[in-house]
Order: sequence, then C-alpha cells, then structure tokens
Amino acid sequence: MTHAQSNVARSLREAPASEALRSAPSVATGPAELAEVLAGLDESPRRLPCKLLYDARGSELFERITELPEYYCTRVELGILREHAGEMARHIGARALLVELGSGSSRKTRLLLDQLPELQAYVPIDISRSALEASVRSLRRLYPGLDVRSLVADYTRSFKLPLPAELTQTASKLVWFFPGSTIGNFEPGAAVDFLARLRQLRPGPQQCLIGVDTPKDRAILEPAYDDAQGVTAAFNLNLLQVVNRRYGASFLGRGFRHRAVWRPEEGRVEMHLVSRYRQTVRVAHHTLQLEPDEIIVTEHCYKYEPEDFARLAGQAGFEVECVWLDAQRRFSVHLLQSA
Ligand code: AVI
Repeated sequence: MTHAQSNVARSLREAPASEALRSAPSVATGPAELAEVLAGLDESPRRLPCKLLYDARGSELFERITELPEYYCTRVELGILREHAGEMARHIGARALLVELGSGSSRKTRLLLDQLPELQAYVPIDISRSALEASVRSLRRLYPGLDVRSLVADYTRSFKLPLPAELTQTASKLVWFFPGSTIGNFEPGAAVDFLARLRQLRPGPQQCLIGVDTPKDRAILEPAYDDAQGVTAAFNLNLLQVVNRRYGASFLGRGFRHRAVWRPEEGRVEMHLVSRYRQTVRVAHHTLQLEPDEIIVTEHCYKYEPEDFARLAGQAGFEVECVWLDAQRRFSVHLLQSA
C-alpha cells in the first residue's frame, strides 16, 4: 500500500467512528445559506449545494481525487496544457492581464506562465487564503519579474479585480483562466450567466481559457466519480459532516452510500447520497424523513461536446478562437474571445 493509499484507508476508517462527535451542532453560517440548504432538501429529488463539498477535509480529498487513476480530467488537461501552452501563449500575446479563477496551487498556470514572459500581471483568485498565500510565495520565487496580485474571494459571487488603472490602461487584454471543468458544476443556464458576468466585469478585449470535460462512455465516467479506493465516496459523504457542523444537522454518514450516475440525456454525471434505510434527520429546527433508497443529489458534473460548449459560450458573449483536445477527445481546453 502506498503512502497516499494508506492515508485514504486511514481516513475512511476513521470517518464513521468520529462522526457522532463531529456532528455536534454548531452555529449556522448564515440565515441565507441555511435557507438554501433547507430549500434544496425540500426539492424532489432532494439536493444539497455542491459548494459545501469543499471544506478543508473536502478540499484535501479533492486533491487526492485529481491523482486517482480513474479521474482522468486533471491528468488529461495537464497533458493538453503541456503540449499546447506555447500555442496558447501565442494567441494571448504580450502585455495581457491573466486572471485565474480558483487558482489553488496554480500548478496548471505555471505551464502558461513559462510561455508568457511579457505578462502585464497575474491575478490568482481563490477562496482559500492559505492555499493562495502558499502559491503566491512559490510563484514569486519561480518568477521574480512577474507582477502577482492575489485576491481572496468567492469568484462565483461579485468581486472587484485588484488592478490599479495604470496596469489596466497599458494592458493589451484581460484573459480569464478557468481550468478543471469547474464550469461543468454549474447548471447550463447558470454557466451562461457566470461567463456573461465575467465578460461584463471590465470593458475592452477579453479572452477566456477554459477547461471543459467531454461526454464519454458510462464505463469511463462512472468510475471517474466512484473510484475503487473510495476517495470520491469519502468526499461526497464528508458533505454531510459539513452540514452537521454548520447547520446543526444530525446526518449519520453510515446511513448513506455514495453513488455516481451518468445521465447521457442530460449530459451530466450526478453524485448522489443514497439513504440506506428509513431515517429521520434534523437540520436546524427542521426534520426530514428519508425513505430507503431515497437520494440526495450533491453535485452535477456537465460534460459538453466542443460545439455544444461553443453555443453556450456564444450566449454569454464569447466566441471560440481555438479548441485543443487530447487524441482520444477525453477533455477540451477552449480559448474564447469576447465577441
Ligand atoms: C471540481 N469539479 C470540476 C470536479 C468535477 O469533476 O466535476 C468535482 C468532482 N466531484 C467528484 N469528483 C470530482
């Protein structure tokens, strides 16, 4: 067993045992967030917001997901970036402002930065201050001449770019970098709204370099979201602990199992938590009754053929300048430009 596998095995073993302690009620994060959680749980099928998957433990589990043999997305996207970063940089040109959404460790960005010596500035945006600070430190060491202006923010909400006028006035364009197919976790209408909002954030020429996963066989997609080591299952079940902690809920992890289903007619993988038996769960001052096999939908992961994504981007005011795919068309990276 490798070090990583033994860590996973240990955390999976520990999860149910420590659950009762960790599910002690705590103060809800805010009435609006609680209302969103309750409204989702009232829907049919029941839903929980996928943003709750990414607390500290969830983010750590997600990092492990990106290294799983079944989860091809990160590996294939990195391959595309490695192979085509030079060409991408030529399309971007000199004096651009590069803004990365959800930059994390900026691992993928370095492939671009190596090819973009004349960048005006790089703005990594991430909700995690600690991840951002660590990556800015290492970027400053690796690229001493690069102007790095980081921003701690939830980029799905409104934010202001930390760029003074003297920088923006002399920049050739603004380039959004949004890798990882995170756009696939938005409902299609919300994805259009989100891209349109980016487009409207600043006048002038823009490009958007965005990673988008493609539809493929069930035999590839379902294991990618339900791996043999159980890391994705732990990631999904951890959401219940987040709800317990933040909203004083009483979900028991052992009362649910993880499931991933590819729905070709919807073009998405759905992550579910399936109730193992009839159970009553408290969330704040509400109670809900779950039937055996009843599901809670925790995440939608949309997959787009390049032409379908081009249509979606078009509705947001972007047109496709270039698309790169791997040889097996498992993943795509689109360079969009403001229409
Ligand atoms: C973050 N996002 C792009 C991942 C995906 O593939 O949709 C989230 C994920 N969920 C389970 N595995 C990975």
